Amino acid sequence: MTELFVICETMEVQEEEVRGFVLARQIEGEMKPWPILMTRKGGAFHAYENVCPHAGNRLDTVPGEFLDEEGNFLKCGTHGALFDLETGHCFIGPCKGENLKPIDIVIDDGDICMIDDTLTEEDGLHLHEPDEHPEVMITSD
Ligand code: FES
Repeated sequence: MTELFVICETMEVQEEEVRGFVLARQIEGEMKPWPILMTRKGGAFHAYENVCPHAGNRLDTVPGEFLDEEGNFLKCGTHGALFDLETGHCFIGPCKGENLKPIDIVIDDGDICMIDDTLTEEDGLHLHEPDEHPEVMITSD
């Protein structure tokens, strides 16, 4: 049966803010950390894998810091590529023309959820996150 995994409440992702989460998913029988990011623009939520298409790094080299200086675009902290919040499209930087990998999300009763059978509960495989960005335990509805 397909399960709905709650990532966070919609109110936890404010307009033009970005939240990072580290989920864990089962790949070939092994638990692997899976960093994602969630943002909101024009009232719509957008989620992407937190993996820069240039060299595969997390965008937030400082955990939780995803935006450029003006707060308008997602920025890769390693080489400075900029990405559109609504599309994940890179328009400046070494991966110009490429895209962040989008993640399908579902809004369910005030929660932002994912439908993914490979997801499982986060079990400490995450990178360090600061206290103001608490880790998320993935729970099934
Ligand atoms: S790793 Fe992101 S721009 Fe190079």
